[in-house]
Amino acid sequence: MENSAIAAQIKALREVLHAHNHAYYVLNSPTISDFEFDTLLKQLEGLEQQYPTFADPNSPTKRVGGDLTKKFQTHKHRFPMLSLSNSYSEQDIIDWAERCQKILGESSEFVCELKYDGVAIGIQYLDGKLQQALTRGDGEQGEDVTANVRTIRTVPIVLDKSVPVDFEIRGEIFMPQQNFEALNAQREAQGEVLFANPRNTASGTLKLLDSKEVAKRGLDCYLYGVYGLKSEALGHYQAVMLAKEWGFKVPDPSKRMIEKTNSIAGIMDFIHYWDQQRSQLPFDIDGVVLKVNSYEQQDLLGLTAKSPRWAIAYKYKTQQVETLLESVSFQVGRTGAITPVANLKPVQLGGTTVKRASLHNADQIQKLDLCELDTVQVEKGGEIIPKIVGVNLALRQRQQRIVFIEHCPECDTPLARQEGEAQHYCPNDTSCKPQVTGKIMHFISRKALNIDGLGEETVELMYSRNLIKNPLDLYQLTFDQLLTLDRMAEKSANNLLQSIAASKEVPFERVLFGLGIRFVGETVAKKLVQAFGTITRLAEASLEELLTVEEIGEKIAQSILVYFSQEANLDLLRGLQQLGLQFECAQKTLDSTILAGKTCVISGTFETFSRDELKELIERNGGKLGSSVSAKTHFLIAGANMGPSKLQKATDLGVTLLTENEFIQLISQ
Ligand code: IVH
Repeated sequence: MENSAIAAQIKALREVLHAHNHAYYVLNSPTISDFEFDTLLKQLEGLEQQYPTFADPNSPTKRVGGDLTKKFQTHKHRFPMLSLSNSYSEQDIIDWAERCQKILGESSEFVCELKYDGVAIGIQYLDGKLQQALTRGDGEQGEDVTANVRTIRTVPIVLDKSVPVDFEIRGEIFMPQQNFEALNAQREAQGEVLFANPRNTASGTLKLLDSKEVAKRGLDCYLYGVYGLKSEALGHYQAVMLAKEWGFKVPDPSKRMIEKTNSIAGIMDFIHYWDQQRSQLPFDIDGVVLKVNSYEQQDLLGLTAKSPRWAIAYKYKTQQVETLLESVSFQVGRTGAITPVANLKPVQLGGTTVKRASLHNADQIQKLDLCELDTVQVEKGGEIIPKIVGVNLALRQRQQRIVFIEHCPECDTPLARQEGEAQHYCPNDTSCKPQVTGKIMHFISRKALNIDGLGEETVELMYSRNLIKNPLDLYQLTFDQLLTLDRMAEKSANNLLQSIAASKEVPFERVLFGLGIRFVGETVAKKLVQAFGTITRLAEASLEELLTVEEIGEKIAQSILVYFSQEANLDLLRGLQQLGLQFECAQKTLDSTILAGKTCVISGTFETFSRDELKELIERNGGKLGSSVSAKTHFLIAGANMGPSKLQKATDLGVTLLTENEFIQLISQ
């Protein structure tokens, strides 16, 4: 085929697929079957593979993600991303609206919207194509998450010709409850730590470096503002409706998701309506947003330092319901901590059915003065598991207090409670089943040793068959042993063995995290590795030395000392070390030595890199970062707005000045 004919075919396929995408994801009314869609998509993929010259980041094939991003670059927002002032008080909203009316006149119009509980995004379109998507960041600069945003099906990547040449659209990226629950169910099955709530998950997902993974997670996006319009719209409502015509997913007026009103009563009605109805929505909202409609009036009202005067958010209080406490059970975690859990009569709360609530510890039970079969008030906060916040004493049926257990429900060992600590512990960490299997699950989890192909059930089975009792035993497992397990075929056994072998290359900080030392999470593990470098030095560190490390306080330091004082732990470490796991911080490999022996100073603000990134680049190329310009400085990397005195000093001392681009050129030589 002629090149031009191929180009035309590719273009036609892309257009058809974009249109079907829009019909399916935005309009919710597909025009072809999934099968037909996939066939067309495959055809396009085939052509793009065969003719790479026609590659386009905005092709519908890019919706599945692809490129691995090393790190997100930060860019300046064209329009600062302001925040909203907010209040839980209806009176504050009335006061705000009255103030607006006083300045603007009674007939001014308000727009009422939902306050989506997700992550703010600003998406730039140029010539009808998605150009760049930035997170809020600090409001001035945001992170470039374009590759990830491209995978969100409700965000169009190419628009019709009739849209403005250059505009920015802002909205909220969120994870619908259904996708959140499916994701957590999948994680639970794989023994991974559960996500706390849809908002954190959306935010974490948007920051994943692997856009393929993002594509699988099912993010969604509602748009709530258009920036950079000229005369296209006179006000906010009109702009949002225009955005709908351009192909964006915007709130539906017929479902009262967006509404115009010129009365305070209208605003209140909207607030009350959604307070009642919000649990029916398939996604989380945490309030409503009220905006003055006319752009001219918005300008008149202006901004405060951080937020516009023309908008305000009314936030809903956390939802509460009452239900019956059927019983209390006690769970043993991997660290031996005992958590009391309330088993409740199932009740609907915030769109999900609640059957259990955490009671945290003995003090909490005492504080609530909880009795058997009490009617309790349950609240959903930021956590996955709701909490009990009170008891309805009027409905108390029995005076029988809930008593905290004295022996471990799993291994019957008497429980202990350290002074000053809220939690009870089962001290039997070598043969209490949930502790042992929990520690192994933690050791193999993705952020630790990342051993794939072992679910919780299999680990429990292996434990009960005496195949594993600590992480060390994983490395002694044989192919034949694995084949004796249910659901373990040859292929999965081989994959598992490979994954176990590969874990020997996992960097020290993740091994340290995987050991499951109490209070040593991912961040603390990193800090410890940076400070001590090797397990030997860490094991020998004194309390004082540990306390000098950033983020490490008394509690963490004590826990580390206790860990290294126990013979069983030292045996485990010796064993793992002999097997070849990483217990030293790998030397940073250099990209080049072009800056070897050179000291660089950075000053001003930069377009492409943050200061931390520049520092890392300097070090990765053998150089050192100096704090101020002196006779020892070799290069001054000068960004915008650099102070004149620094410049003068550098010139006087004959220091070589480099712009950001010159620096990039130098290190990429
Ligand atoms: S307007 C200048 N409208 O709430 C006004 N924000 O600080 C800019 N949000 O994280 C925001 N729903 O992403 C606006 N309908 C809505 C919104 C909304 C959610 C978020 C926004 C930001 C926070 C406000």
